[in-house]
Amino acid sequence: MTVAHHFQFRDGVLHAEDTSLADLASEFGTPLYVYSRQALHDAWEAYRVAAQGRNVLVCFGMKANSNLAVLNEFKKLGSGFDIVSGGELARVLAVGGDASRIVFSGVGKQEWEMQAALKAGVKCFNVESEAELLRLAQVADRLGMVAPVSLRVNPDVDAQTHPYISTGLKENKFGIAIESAVAVYQRAATLPSLKVVGVDCHIGSQITESAPYLDALDKLIALIKTLAGLGIDLQHLDLGGGIGIRYTDETLLSPSALLDKVFQVLDAQGLSHLQLVLEPGRSLVGNAGVLLTKVEYLKHSEAKNFAIVDAAMNDLLRPTLYGAWHSVEAVTPRDNTNVAQSYDIVGPICESGDWLARDRELNLEQGDLIAIMSAGAYAFTMASQYNTRPRAAEIMVDGTQAHVIRPREKMEDLFATEKVLN
Ligand code: LLP
Repeated sequence: MTVAHHFQFRDGVLHAEDTSLADLASEFGTPLYVYSRQALHDAWEAYRVAAQGRNVLVCFGMKANSNLAVLNEFKKLGSGFDIVSGGELARVLAVGGDASRIVFSGVGKQEWEMQAALKAGVKCFNVESEAELLRLAQVADRLGMVAPVSLRVNPDVDAQTHPYISTGLKENKFGIAIESAVAVYQRAATLPSLKVVGVDCHIGSQITESAPYLDALDKLIALIKTLAGLGIDLQHLDLGGGIGIRYTDETLLSPSALLDKVFQVLDAQGLSHLQLVLEPGRSLVGNAGVLLTKVEYLKHSEAKNFAIVDAAMNDLLRPTLYGAWHSVEAVTPRDNTNVAQSYDIVGPICESGDWLARDRELNLEQGDLIAIMSAGAYAFTMASQYNTRPRAAEIMVDGTQAHVIRPREKMEDLFATEKVLN
């Protein structure tokens, strides 16, 4: 059975750490996101160990899970943050995060976001186009400041992942084509309100092999050397995020396996002085969370059996958007022998695309609780209120303690600010 490390069965009931998910459901209702604090710490530990003795800054790719409680755990562990909006910046500042450990990524930074990040004092802007570079130079100039800049280069490598989450290919909207990068760096070096500090790339997400990273690294190193020859010396190299997690039976790429190889290459190329920056999102939080949901109805038709649950695509968009697989566990499983049937787990939303899992062998009855596993990353952060469904509560479990880190949204709040015309 593929149950994540901090989510295990005890006396026939699925637990998060030492807390029964059945108890959580009866106390807080469903649907419910439940995170394990220890799982966050363990995921961080894998990066800490991998980076030991080297100059590495891990910036949590917080788009994966930006709840303040989650950010606060990583802040206390020493993490920096990879942000992609002024909103994410505000969240980091709200937990007292250190702006000098923030890298600001994203293709469409607006002026107000640049201003806010400059004033906060972020480590660097990962600039994705020449137009953005010029805008940043203007904004910094107006404030009488100097903006630290790294160019996000598109190395044109295939991360071998889902097309929607592959970002390092020529045809993607991300980054500056590696062939044009030298010219853009030279331009940047002439602008007094910019300071070139690094180079960065992010080739995609849910990557399970080191080869695409090493291909990208080779290309970045060639660029770094060309730039050095032109008198442009960089202080850091940012390889982005993207390390995958186990949703089902994926073979895993561990942070150590990847970093050992990266350090080897950097040492061999005489570049060990460069700081290595990483932007992992999913691998720090993905397997630290589940989405708990209750079976409202079972519906058997000629072609399919459906378990209609109270969670839906608005709570977990990944299955319908990417065809993503999330494991499904009955919280209090019955003996499956002879009675399990193949179910599609679907939500109440009025869309055929509203499904969470397909063709799962389960022995279910109305009222049963099920856990959609690996829902710590890109679940709540991609949630919406479609069909006027309040977003579900988020709970952080710490041993036997359950903390509400975001209460369930109230129905009346959903439209409290809307106005009808006279
Ligand atoms: N850095 C940058 C610039 C990124 O665009 C991303 C993710 C990350 C870091 C973190 O990547 P991670 O370590 O989480 O793979 N919603 C999709 C994933 C989209 C990823 C977008 N960028 C999903 O649910 O699979």
